[in-house]
Amino acid sequence: MSIVVLISGRGSNLQALIEAGLPVAAVISNVAEAKGLEIARARGIATRVIEHGRFASREAFETALAAQIADFSPRLIALAGFMRVLTPGFVQRHRERLLNIHPSLLPAFPGLDTHARALAAGVKLHGCTVHFVTAEVDYGPIVMQAAVRVRPGDSAAALAARVLEQEHVVYPRAARWFLEDRLVLRDGIVTVKGNDAQLVVPAD
Ligand code: GRF
Repeated sequence: MSIVVLISGRGSNLQALIEAGLPVAAVISNVAEAKGLEIARARGIATRVIEHGRFASREAFETALAAQIADFSPRLIALAGFMRVLTPGFVQRHRERLLNIHPSLLPAFPGLDTHARALAAGVKLHGCTVHFVTAEVDYGPIVMQAAVRVRPGDSAAALAARVLEQEHVVYPRAARWFLEDRLVLRDGIVTVKGNDAQLVVPAD
């Protein structure tokens, strides 16, 4: 019933999953210097590094990645700031047990620099999304969202910080639902058995 978390950097979402008491069995990074690896090591959680640059192809990298993941037989694979695009083959092989967190209210603003793009678009509401991973990047059945109000004069950094705070709320909650077998995926729509709220709107 464990989780393998894939990261590339800071690891604050990884930390939120661990601190929520979720069973993180291992952390795998494609970047050797990823700060998140230290977070895992400090807690005695197994870590692996698979540097994508050492592989001749995306498929070769993913074969190694899949082998490392399989070592831990995880129930859930949680992407948390994992900055490699996964091939349709990998996604298909791990379908319905791959979750990602993205810093926007999907389907708005897939991709990078979401906070600056949200400000440039003048949206009044921004946020983050936990979703099942599909072959299309930053797209897939939505498990949970948190909505964050955009404030007049907001900077991308200030907005990102408020969104990140909510990421740390929704990702552990969504991962727990997954592990408790409470997520029902039907026709691309996710519902939660027991009707827990899939939207968080913090008071501000
Ligand atoms: C988060 O904003 C997450 O939504 C995005 O990448 C960032 C990772 O941050 N996918 P961290 O490494 O979890 O601190």
